[in-house]
Amino acid sequence: MVNFFIKTYGCQANVADSQAISNYLQNLGCCRVEKEKHADLILINTCAIREKAEQKVFSYIGELAEFKVNKKYLQVGVIGCIASYRKKEILNRFDNVRFVFGAKEDLYKLQSLLHDIILKIETIKSLSSREQNLLIKRKSLTGSQIADDKKILHLGGFKNHTKEVKQSFINIMTGCNNYCSYCIVPFTRGRESSYSLDEILDRVKRDVELGAKDITLLGQNVNSYKDPQSNANFSKLLEKVAQIKGDFWVKFVSPHPKDMTKDVLEIMAQYSDKLCSYIHHPLQSGSNKILQAMNRTYTVEKYLEQIDWIRELLPNATISTDIIIGFPGETEIDYQKTVDVLESVKFDNVYSFIYSPRKYTKAALFKDKCPIDVKLERLKKLQQRQVDICKEQNNRYVGKIIKCLVEKRLTNGKLLARTEGNIRVLISGNDDKINKFVQVKIENAGAVNLIGSIIV
Ligand code: 5AD
Ligand code: SF4
Repeated sequence: MVNFFIKTYGCQANVADSQAISNYLQNLGCCRVEKEKHADLILINTCAIREKAEQKVFSYIGELAEFKVNKKYLQVGVIGCIASYRKKEILNRFDNVRFVFGAKEDLYKLQSLLHDIILKIETIKSLSSREQNLLIKRKSLTGSQIADDKKILHLGGFKNHTKEVKQSFINIMTGCNNYCSYCIVPFTRGRESSYSLDEILDRVKRDVELGAKDITLLGQNVNSYKDPQSNANFSKLLEKVAQIKGDFWVKFVSPHPKDMTKDVLEIMAQYSDKLCSYIHHPLQSGSNKILQAMNRTYTVEKYLEQIDWIRELLPNATISTDIIIGFPGETEIDYQKTVDVLESVKFDNVYSFIYSPRKYTKAALFKDKCPIDVKLERLKKLQQRQVDICKEQNNRYVGKIIKCLVEKRLTNGKLLARTEGNIRVLISGNDDKINKFVQVKIENAGAVNLIGSIIV
């Protein structure tokens, strides 16, 4: 039997891909292991969004060399976003990497490549060590056609862990056409393309039948979804998903403010039993000058109007956002405008990053005079302020009874649950509560966690 290990970096699209690949390998009879040292095949699913993410991946690949010493037939494969544009470099730089497969390549090819690799590992494992050495010298690996009744990799994966919540990550589209001037995604994941509505609905139904409680619809720009056959838009898709029978809830990431329309919010309000009142609404900057340079194609005023729509149609919605600090040309005044938006909207969660220049992007050519120390200081101040805002926001739950989904047991002994707004809730209880919806009375709130007790 072949043991495999997958290391996943980056966004939920990568989590979905890793899960799908893992399911595929398990269907082939392979066993997923939790430690690299037990693996015959190691896959690294990479992220290129910021330079730091890339550095982490490169040092990790280097560290894996030690496992190759004792297990000569160990196969290491690099997949995902970095693999899309640094194939040659990775193969040249790391002796231990046997194949590199990019995020915009056809996943069916990866399927047949993995199939070949598994056969090869099985063969080599059954040989003596002298015979193994001879075989390993032949380096080339090719994908062959395999009988393929599981053409599901592109839609992502269903996580069916016995001791954790059953989650389904479903890609409703791939790629991105927006070309925000800082972002590498259109280059690593390719052009935007939506998957078939019927195929997505079948997937949701199947995963619900398999016990999925937590479904996330994924895309770089979900609200520009268009069914290739019927032209149905994102709100139609949400409506159809919400009409599927069963005990589950649905979230989606991420919409783009340029494509936000009220019909999506109206459908969310109408089907609030299934569609979580949670919106991740990436702002990036509170300055119109910077938004324009970022090619975001909306203004702060437009964004704030959309926040008003959300508050009006979904009064209890949880709203989170992404912020980039230190984009080229960002002055103290521009930065302050971003802080002002944080103060006025009071997001429940803010993911903030220092701008990182990326190859191929337009902004990589922009002049940037702001020293890194200034940027770091701005980020620190913004994050400190947001901790207080999160605390304030979370306080509104204290004394209330809210529906939560129990995810897993933490190492501190508590059960981790989440609200429909993705807020962490720590509770006490037995393992049989895992993967169940429960009503929780909230007793205490911090910036990161709510603490409560199960009522039913
Ligand atoms: N530098 C910093 N942050 C970035 N993001 C995307 N590209 C960059 C970059 N070059 C952030 C954006 C996006 C989130 C997923 O990552 O905020 O919404
Ligand atoms: Fe990147 Fe912009 Fe596309 Fe998001 S919408 S993936 S930030 S280019």
